[in-house]
Amino acid sequence: MTPDTYVGAVDQGTTGTRFMVFDHEGRVVANAYERHEQFYPEPGWVEHDPVEIWEKTQSVVREALDSAGIEATQLEAIGVTNQRETTLFWDAESGQPIHRAIVWQDRRTTDRVEELEANGKAETIQAKTGLQPDAYFSATKAEWLLDNADPIKLQRARPADTRERAEAGDLHFGTIDSWLIEKLTGNHVTDVTNASRTMLFDIHEMAWDDELLEEFRVPRATLPEVRPSSDEDYYGTTDPDGFLGAEVPVAGALGDQQAALFGQTCFDEGDAKNTYGTGSFFLLNTGEEAVESDNGLLTTVGFQRSGEPVQYALEGSIFVTGAAVEWLGDVGLIDDAGETEDLARSVDSTDGVYLVPAFTGLGAPHWDQRARGTIVGMTRGTRREHIVRATLESIAYQTRDVAEAMEHDSGIEVEELRVDGGAVKNNFLCQLQADVLGVDIVRPEVDETTALGSAYAAGLAVGYWGTADELRKNWQVDSEFTPKRTSEGDAMYERWHDAVDRSLDWARE
Ligand code: G3P
Repeated sequence: MTPDTYVGAVDQGTTGTRFMVFDHEGRVVANAYERHEQFYPEPGWVEHDPVEIWEKTQSVVREALDSAGIEATQLEAIGVTNQRETTLFWDAESGQPIHRAIVWQDRRTTDRVEELEANGKAETIQAKTGLQPDAYFSATKAEWLLDNADPIKLQRARPADTRERAEAGDLHFGTIDSWLIEKLTGNHVTDVTNASRTMLFDIHEMAWDDELLEEFRVPRATLPEVRPSSDEDYYGTTDPDGFLGAEVPVAGALGDQQAALFGQTCFDEGDAKNTYGTGSFFLLNTGEEAVESDNGLLTTVGFQRSGEPVQYALEGSIFVTGAAVEWLGDVGLIDDAGETEDLARSVDSTDGVYLVPAFTGLGAPHWDQRARGTIVGMTRGTRREHIVRATLESIAYQTRDVAEAMEHDSGIEVEELRVDGGAVKNNFLCQLQADVLGVDIVRPEVDETTALGSAYAAGLAVGYWGTADELRKNWQVDSEFTPKRTSEGDAMYERWHDAVDRSLDWARE
């Protein structure tokens, strides 16, 4: 009897790395996860060690396969999905990073972005890349790295020649997908979705843009080749003599939010998903049209399959949602995120308290890098239960902010929202989200949709799955939350904007 075969997915996120193995029905058959260290060298700066990330990737792959008794030769393909925008350069020959990776949350280039805005560059940037200029994206991080790569920390570069080496093509630029794919296959590539988050890529031409490369002084010689998210020509294969011990095609890659869109089988125009992780990322498939936003959303590449047109999406990127729940733990208001459901239910309302978790500024639809977190409406009677409930409410309100912007921009009325990510285990939050949005919230059985999406992309490329319809059949509902108290939801949402107004612009000197 021939052994069963599977598809694997590396899911490299902001806090850790997961490897999952899926069978033909899209069920999880193996899973391992490890966290990595977060470095905060200065307030507002966030870095990761790419070498640690690669080591952890290898160890979760081995652990998942060993624990499920699966041989690497049983993998028909591997997909990669990743925290987006996080930026690094490495030595093309030795494969050693020149500096730690600068994480998407990092705000060190805020001044540079303000300079771009002051110089009237925002419109061109948005027209070409679909992005609102922000320190969130890779371009200003790449510029900073080439100017400042610090030889002391990793002892791997001499700063004087960093730019020179970049011009000569001795350095490779990449987001985390490129870094891992090169480690896995030896090839320097990225996919269209990750490229679309760099602020260096024209999403209409589907090419790196010379004007932007010049603006940010990123040499073309450092850039990866841009490929479809599901690539029948494969990005490459793993080395049979390498850590995996087998030659497996690496054939799918998507930024994690686009991977979740794919894993939720949001293949058609009008399909939408919201992932509740560190932040929340609401994506609406707009089909072959790149809809430009007038309401503070991003236009981004949703996915592309080999030989097929690019599918675009509108995205509402909310920087802090799950991280606000983590913060409740940091300040000792809860021991564990699981407690928030009962604590929130134990009071009828927040008693007028609003919490705006603008800890790293506000993303969509406000884009205020200087906004800061705020709690308003407290009285002597305010209890931790109210603050916990206000935190969960802030997640639902921020989602409504982007949902409304989406409707205005696209004219598409979202009828149901597919949700995933850690926080959707919380039934209180899911019901609250339905009430505040006034649409059905649908939670699927497999909630690891990010890993699933990249496995689907890789599996389609090698023919493990034949059609999108096959994948749609795999998607099964776990729970559906229908709006019950929409008028109450509307009333609560009304004052939210006053609270947001108080957090805007707070850190401006
Ligand atoms: O754009 C940032 C996003 O890709 C990060 O996602 O799940 O790693 O926090 P996550």
